[in-house]
Amino acid sequence: MKRILVTGALGQIGTELVTRLREVYGADNVIATDIRKPEDNAVVNGGPFEILDVTDGKAMIEISKKYNVDTIMHLAALLSAVAEAKPQLAWNINMGGLVNALEAARELNCQFFTPSSIGAFGPSTPKNNTPQDTIQRPETMYGVTKVSGELLCDYYYKKFGVDTRGVRFPGLISYVAPPGGGTTDYAVDIYYEALKKGKYTSYIAKGTYMDMMYMPDAINAIIKLMEADASKLKHRNAFNITAMSFEPEQIAAEIKKHIPEFEMDYDVDPVRQGIAETWPDSIDPSAAMEEWGFKAEYDLAKMTEDMLEKLRAKGIK
Ligand code: SER
Repeated sequence: MKRILVTGALGQIGTELVTRLREVYGADNVIATDIRKPEDNAVVNGGPFEILDVTDGKAMIEISKKYNVDTIMHLAALLSAVAEAKPQLAWNINMGGLVNALEAARELNCQFFTPSSIGAFGPSTPKNNTPQDTIQRPETMYGVTKVSGELLCDYYYKKFGVDTRGVRFPGLISYVAPPGGGTTDYAVDIYYEALKKGKYTSYIAKGTYMDMMYMPDAINAIIKLMEADASKLKHRNAFNITAMSFEPEQIAAEIKKHIPEFEMDYDVDPVRQGIAETWPDSIDPSAAMEEWGFKAEYDLAKMTEDMLEKLRAKGIK
């Protein structure tokens, strides 16, 4: 991993991943790309940046060649709730983008990372401590693209020898860039609203458990997996990873410890609630722990303390 191309670099994961990669591998060695180029943005101004529409395979290969990259981290994708609103577009972006990124990796002999998700599971998947290898019949377009993506990455490894690697991320919580259109976004919004208004209306119903992780753990996991000894990897793509599982009452109770007047009520969104109900309550990350030493540092209490402190430092109140 010496020269790295990142797609979707301005997204929730990309923003923090690019910053960390530039610290570790050198700013000039991390080529950030996204479909837009805002001014006054740390990712745009902190090193090489190119506008790239991931559905344009020719442009993807040209940019990869221009910078002579040896690693591609493909993050550009639509999240679950928007994908459900625009399923055809989601297929085109999530699968079209992935196959283009894999083709660029094949042509330039790159190492490759792309995330899968807890969305790759469905209602017939065992709900608790969901195993690494299990039934995957998702009922959302997001899930369909994630399972297909897992299979496609396995295929590119077996057929073409591309060094593909990936994880199934749970809901990711961060204070830097907002997520866009996911089902787990409530667990980010709640911190902003707690500080701004002292109250939050949850679109996810009481008692709905989902896996979550704080962004620093997610970024560490990506780098650790990419640096892992290939001979130790039995799964390669789509490792289950998680740091915590909670339902809305639990995150609200944790916030209340810091903001005692905080109140939460519910106005359940049937679309996102429907999606959440098809996902696991908790997944089993033991394959990732055994094969490449995955470990999360943040639990709900430690994350909540840090989130509130960092958001306050950003001037959110
Ligand atoms: N956080 C994502 C979503 O809610 C799940 O991968 O869509």
